[in-house]
Amino acid sequence: MIRFSDRLQALPGYPLAEIPSIKRRLIEAGMDVIDLGAGDNDTPPPDTVLAAMHEALKQPALSKYGFQQGLMGYRQAISRWVERRFGIRFDPASETLPLLGSKEGLSHLPVAVVNQGDVVLVPEPGYQAYIGGAILSGAVPHICPLRAERKFLLELDDVPADVLKRAKLVFANYPNNPTAAVANTEYLTRLVNNCRKHGILLAYDNAYCELTYDGYRAPSIFEIPGARDVAIEFFSLSKSYSMTGWRIGFAVGRSELIGALTRVKSYVDTGPWLAIQQAAVAVLDNSDALVAPVRAELERRRDAGVAALNANGIACEAPHAAMYLWVPLPAGIASAPFARRVLEETGVVLLPGSGFGPAGEGYFRIALTVGAPRLEEAARRIASVLAVTPRDELAAAR
Ligand code: MLT
Repeated sequence: MIRFSDRLQALPGYPLAEIPSIKRRLIEAGMDVIDLGAGDNDTPPPDTVLAAMHEALKQPALSKYGFQQGLMGYRQAISRWVERRFGIRFDPASETLPLLGSKEGLSHLPVAVVNQGDVVLVPEPGYQAYIGGAILSGAVPHICPLRAERKFLLELDDVPADVLKRAKLVFANYPNNPTAAVANTEYLTRLVNNCRKHGILLAYDNAYCELTYDGYRAPSIFEIPGARDVAIEFFSLSKSYSMTGWRIGFAVGRSELIGALTRVKSYVDTGPWLAIQQAAVAVLDNSDALVAPVRAELERRRDAGVAALNANGIACEAPHAAMYLWVPLPAGIASAPFARRVLEETGVVLLPGSGFGPAGEGYFRIALTVGAPRLEEAARRIASVLAVTPRDELAAAR
């Protein structure tokens, strides 16, 4: 009988793990499913990337191992993009790293920087790759609750001094998943200064930096003076260019940090497919034109989704970034049974706030993955379940 590791058993349930099988069952039973679960837009990848991929497929050299070095042309495109977008220069060879999506880099990073028993500071609600990476590396995750009244900002000043002393790494992510909160320069300066003061590495997840609305511009953490000493930043092509399944992203940072992550990855993967790296060059070099329609469509969906929820009696504010609505539930309704009921009874896939950690309780997340009419239909269905849900569920679930 195999006894699984304590680390495996310590992993919380992944919020999206069960959804594909439930969805299949419902579709097979004839239900009209609206999937607002994973942040996976129904928009296609740009023609530019498909054309570049067609060309790449014809080059046998791109079917070989990429190893961690990958395609130098991709590293150069990363460096060009970061410089054009944020005005910061990273050396392609030593300060950029191709990733199999930013999730992979984020969850492998702790292996490179923590020892058994070190503390990793994890935002909650948060992208579950952070806590997963911390647990799998043998670290002790310390939960930093993100509260609406603090604008969902992770504040190191709130962490007890003895925990801060043992902390090696903190994950931060703005524009934020799941809350869609954004951070201004003043906050990011405080965060960087605190990381410098306490000698904590800042893993800054900037996967949603291109999906911003209402004139908001998401900065790079490296726009903050001193960040190079303490930060590594992660980017993804998944959401901005509808390329979730391609698994392509990258990290930038000073060479010691990039080198440490490279070393870990040398043992667990052999780099993204070179053909995809080649196609990704075409994306990064044309990023402004390619992201504009995705951003415009998400903004339309955001407006339609928020309006439809409000019209159906569900209060929700319009976020300035990302591709999610983080919707408060009325007091007393537990998010997991509610999301389950919405799915089973109406076919709408939502993610319960508690799927992003217990501090996410009291909310559900809608991903703006479908067009306005389907979001409006989804809002009606969600409201119909809410209308008949008893308010004492949360107490019963505890
Ligand atoms: C999401 O939050 O929907 C993610 O980006 C998908 C995942 O990697 O879990």
